Amino acid sequence: VNRKRLLANWKMNLTLDQAAEWTRRVVAALPPPEEVSAMVLPSFTALDAVRRARGDAPLLIGAQDGYPQGHGAVTGEVGIEQLKDAGVSAVLAGHSERRRLLGEPDPLVAKKVEAYVGAGLTAVLCVGETEAERQAGHAEAVLRRQIATGLEPVAESALCQVLVAYEPVWAIGTGHPATPDAASEAAETIRAAVRARFGEERADALEILYGGSVDVTNLAGFLAASGIDGALVGGASLDADGFVAMMKAARG
Ligand code: PGA
Repeated sequence: VNRKRLLANWKMNLTLDQAAEWTRRVVAALPPPEEVSAMVLPSFTALDAVRRARGDAPLLIGAQDGYPQGHGAVTGEVGIEQLKDAGVSAVLAGHSERRRLLGEPDPLVAKKVEAYVGAGLTAVLCVGETEAERQAGHAEAVLRRQIATGLEPVAESALCQVLVAYEPVWAIGTGHPATPDAASEAAETIRAAVRARFGEERADALEILYGGSVDVTNLAGFLAASGIDGALVGGASLDADGFVAMMKAARG
């Protein structure tokens, strides 16, 4: 695909006022969606403020997490029906901060992917090795395992509802991104694992994002890297002007 994806993962940041202001500024500068598909992933508290500020503009809204059930007796969680009602079209699964800080295991990540896709949403499956796994030479094996388990419940016909984000844990929030070549290599490992399970055509159509210390200075390099279809941007996405500059850079 020629269209590039740019996802703004706010993580646990921004007040309601800041979220609305960010959205107004970004909406005013949105590129044509057939060139750049922009998505913002606010905290649950700000979903509605973002949707109001977005209006009819082609800025997609995603959630950083979701409980793998429509609704029900699950204190503290947000269900998929609630997310859809709030205008969400995509949900992250398996972000490394949740894997690490909250102990989210692969099987739960797989349940989430299954539930999001089953509800007609896009699942953004996040994978990536830690520094220790990389040092030990296990990076490829980790990616293969995370892909195999994360996509285990996904039917071939539903793979088009999945995006994979390659986010090496050592690159997230550190200011030390991977190189575009290393991101390409990881994307090829991911695509090979997907090919083995779903076949050539589905694997070729899978969109893979890179995430980890992406900013306006390095974004174009990642977007030009073979096998990389977009970027998941954390820290550098919080500033609306910075994100606008990245949308511009993504147009090439
Ligand atoms: P970062 O985070 O851009 O702040 O490194 C990326 C992510 O975790 O999605």
